[in-house]
Amino acid sequence: MHALYRLWCISLALKCFVSIQIIPTFTNYEKAKTELFKLIESVKNGRDLPMIAGCVRLAFHDCIGKEYCNGCIDHTHAGNAGLKVTTDRINALYEALFKGSISRADFYALAAVVALTRSTADAPVKYKGLDFFKVGRKDCDSSPNEFQSVTPPSGTDGTNKTFKFFQDNFNFTVRNTVVILGAHTLGRCSLENTGFVGTWVDDEFSTVVKDPSTLAPTSVLDNAYYREIIDNLSWKQVTIDGIKKQWQKENTLIPNDKLPEANRSTLLLNSDITNSWVIEPTDESGTVACAPTSTNNTCQHSVAHNYTVEFARNNSLWVIEFTNVFGRMIEMNQNVLKDRPTLSSQWRVIPFYAIYFLMFAFYTLVIL
Ligand code: HEM
Repeated sequence: MHALYRLWCISLALKCFVSIQIIPTFTNYEKAKTELFKLIESVKNGRDLPMIAGCVRLAFHDCIGKEYCNGCIDHTHAGNAGLKVTTDRINALYEALFKGSISRADFYALAAVVALTRSTADAPVKYKGLDFFKVGRKDCDSSPNEFQSVTPPSGTDGTNKTFKFFQDNFNFTVRNTVVILGAHTLGRCSLENTGFVGTWVDDEFSTVVKDPSTLAPTSVLDNAYYREIIDNLSWKQVTIDGIKKQWQKENTLIPNDKLPEANRSTLLLNSDITNSWVIEPTDESGTVACAPTSTNNTCQHSVAHNYTVEFARNNSLWVIEFTNVFGRMIEMNQNVLKDRPTLSSQWRVIPFYAIYFLMFAFYTLVIL
């Protein structure tokens, strides 16, 4: 009997060791979703909910690095500039209510999926990523901070470098990369963060009707980004703050940093232009010799062009592919992930723990 008891202790110890992977209970998981929805809704700027874009960008940057999505950000790295405003809010909620019951990496990924769900509330095609969410991500040892092991892509990069980054780091095909870059339909660039200024989309291509009750285009996940690229060919480079190049439309070539917010043009970064054209910058600031509508030096279409046209014409197709590719990205982790907790999965583990408890009680009360 003593041998049996020893065996049982060993199995219990082994179980504890293996369960370093935190799997949230159904109750905690549901509470995390509810609190994240509330947090995202609580930060408003007119019709914009800036936490939507902030959480989606955070999920991407959290997944860059040797350990992939690990609940850790290096805020000292210039490539992560601007993320702190989002992590400060998410971390405060995590520390107050969820530390220990769900990993921070799960919490960051869940925040993005909740944000994307909220972003399509008014849109014709709904994002359904919550249905496929997985849990059990491992945090980095120094969470929430880390040393950035892989440099995030720069908005001044050209076509080859942009596609190579996603191939090398996420094993994404060109089509997958075009799909994931559509996330830039959300949010904005700020001079103080990255040296670019403006939003990728505005009301012109949004699938959501402009109305006080609907979200601003910068908070809506739809294919406006692709139509912006394909249906406006007059993109020209301008210099922001005398340093970095971004693309604006021909009729609005005053650089956005010289204009009040209400008068700014939509923008594309070099890495967005690659979704349709081949560009190779000739300097650090991202200068490109060709332009899509230039008469003497027209850019050639890239291999990505046909995909961009396809997504520009078919919002449902893009939302489905985005859900899949974004899901693949946020599932990259050192742990093997598990399906999201459900009510029935919560009940299933109770008999397991009950048997352990009864065996322990029996041994303590009867055998000893
Ligand atoms: C070649 C790859 C990429 C480059 C060069 C790039 C670059 C940038 C830059 C420069 C900004 C502006 C940040 C600021 O000034 O605050 C930004 C914002 C953003 N990025 Fe990317 N990005 C890339 C890929 C992605 C991916 C894969 C996602 C998500 C799946 C993403 C989501 C976002 C979002 C949502 C914003 C808006 C953030 C906000 O408004 O707070 N980006 N990106």
